Amino acid sequence: MELIILGSGKMARAIIEGARKSHTITVVARDEKALSEIKKKYKVDIVNLKSFNIHGKNIILCIKPYALKSATLNLMGRANLVLSVLAGTKISTLKQNIKSNHYIRIMPNLAATFKKSMTTITGDEAYKEEAINICKTFGDTLWVGSEKELDIATAVAGSGPAFLALVAEALSDGAVKEGLKREDANLLVKGLFEGFYPLLKTTHPALIKDGVMSPGGTTAAGYSALEEANVRSGFIKAITKAYERTL
Ligand SMILES: NC(=O)c1ccc[n+]([C@@H]2O[C@H](COP(=O)([O-])OP(=O)(O)OC[C@H]3O[C@@H](n4cnc5c(N)ncnc54)[C@H](OP(=O)(O)O)[C@@H]3O)[C@@H](O)[C@H]2O)c1
Repeated sequence: MELIILGSGKMARAIIEGARKSHTITVVARDEKALSEIKKKYKVDIVNLKSFNIHGKNIILCIKPYALKSATLNLMGRANLVLSVLAGTKISTLKQNIKSNHYIRIMPNLAATFKKSMTTITGDEAYKEEAINICKTFGDTLWVGSEKELDIATAVAGSGPAFLALVAEALSDGAVKEGLKREDANLLVKGLFEGFYPLLKTTHPALIKDGVMSPGGTTAAGYSALEEANVRSGFIKAITKAYERTL
């Protein structure tokens, strides 16, 4: 399938990197310098956004949500498919700004850069399989049946790297506070996250916790401090607040 990637930022590059082996890609954007960098690095075609005819094309929109109106103003024609990565931007809003026969929303995360995105997808079922195939080129996928579910997923998997970054930084800060060197603390945290994934993949979180926590032990002492600080409730609220932002 031929794909037009509209945008030249972080998400556009992550998608180009993943999808270019299985799809013919043209990148359309306004920044000439970014476009020539992309051409050189990924060996794809580039076109300036000034006036572009989208007729019959399959477009992946990789611009900021606030830029939707201005970036699509001079596009001509009616696309076949619009795949949008824009957080919190409903299909009804996409329809007002860019004409297409089919619309799909995808919500990747920054790990797409390493082909490890957890991408949620929803929209026109006619292109479900194609959308999943495109997103699989930069990680795992989850198709959901509604935009509401995609917006909740945005809070978990889209914003999630920022939430986990807070955990990683705080754990390292705690270790430094008690006297560990920063570089050693950071190394431990990286190893912890790496080793945690296979645990989480095979074991329920409550059982991981039970497996580590011995009676009257170090983990129990640390865990009760987290509960006293309402960390669990803080994370639940974070998902609610992030989701509410998409409404
Ligand atoms: N980054 C993430 O973790 C993440 C995760 C999930 C979804 N997303 C979604 O991905 C989208 C892109 O995010 P990003 O992280 O790739 O941002 P980014 O690196 O800042 O890239 C934004 C792109 O939008 C272009 N743009 C901005 N205003 C424009 C305008 N008026 N006309 C034409 N192009 C314009 C920029 O072009 P210039 O360089 O010329 O300004 C740039 O190519 C966002 O909608 C975001 O919601 C991001």
